[in-house]
Amino acid sequence: MRLGKLKNRDFLTLLDYTPAEITYLLDLAAWLKQQKKAGVNHAAFPGKNVALIFEKTSTRTRCSFEVAANELGMHSTYLDPSGSQIGKKEAIADTARVLSRIYDGIEYRGYDQSIVEELAQYSDVPVWNGLTNQYHPTQILADLLTIREHFGTLAGKKLVYFGDARYNMGNSLMIGCAKMGMQFTACAPKSYMPEAALIEKCQKIAAQTGASLSFETDPLTAAKGADVLYTDVWVSMGEPAEVWQERIEKLSPYCVTEKLMKAANPEAVFMHCLPAFHDLKTTIGKEIGEKFGLDHMEVEDAVFEGKQSVVFDEAENRMHTIKAVMAATL
Ligand code: CP
Ligand code: NVA
Repeated sequence: MRLGKLKNRDFLTLLDYTPAEITYLLDLAAWLKQQKKAGVNHAAFPGKNVALIFEKTSTRTRCSFEVAANELGMHSTYLDPSGSQIGKKEAIADTARVLSRIYDGIEYRGYDQSIVEELAQYSDVPVWNGLTNQYHPTQILADLLTIREHFGTLAGKKLVYFGDARYNMGNSLMIGCAKMGMQFTACAPKSYMPEAALIEKCQKIAAQTGASLSFETDPLTAAKGADVLYTDVWVSMGEPAEVWQERIEKLSPYCVTEKLMKAANPEAVFMHCLPAFHDLKTTIGKEIGEKFGLDHMEVEDAVFEGKQSVVFDEAENRMHTIKAVMAATL
């Protein structure tokens, strides 16, 4: 295992990583996945400890960090949204200096990207971004690994993101696709497109990697030639409930439907970072669905449950890729 290369690096956004480094992380994740499937012990980090700070809730990211740490031979401490002093009684800079005296690495999930950046600035150990309002880089690694496993390659593949393209998933997929030479399309209402400054940064990356970026308001046009149709919840964690009405009005035409899947390449896959509102079997899904007369939101149940859906491969890959990030940077 070549673990020296990225040692002590923070993992805050894929903007900070070169295509070669991203490929290295994907290769490492694939190798670690293989080791696990073959039942080979890969506990290469005995005695290491990692702190997992979650200011927002989580299933996949938390479980992936905990299991990955455990399988690498490390111990982890989970700090839940209410169980620490962070931000309330203790400044981020102080928290960073305290935790980096105790731990070998720190994961942070929370609100503004500036918080995880400050944490990294004051921390002596690697800091990993487990989702902020702006970016979700560990999710993108899992997505890239899933696409590569499915198609055998990333370069040239067309990924269309349907939904609120201004938030963490839209931004991060645009960066990931730009870095890996893919064709990225944000398909959203004009006012829900990524910020101009980020688009400009990604255009510069794309010019180096052979990637292309496009911005399309019509879902059927966007789906044409797509290899990956990707969506996310319409209202993200931490956003006020009042935004549901506007999001439903604006984003209903961008729901990933069977009709949209048929407009894409015949081998196209459906992806979603999860959790997904594909039916009314959740408290929020039921409440919002009944209020607005919907039986699903961002994706039709038939697509989510259909043959082209790879959402659970994607969820599994969260663990292997997070393990790679920790193994490479510790
Ligand atoms: N996709 C993802 O980050 O899921 P969790 O919110 O459950 O961690
Ligand atoms: N945009 C979503 C992603 C969840 C993984 C959110 O921030 O809630």
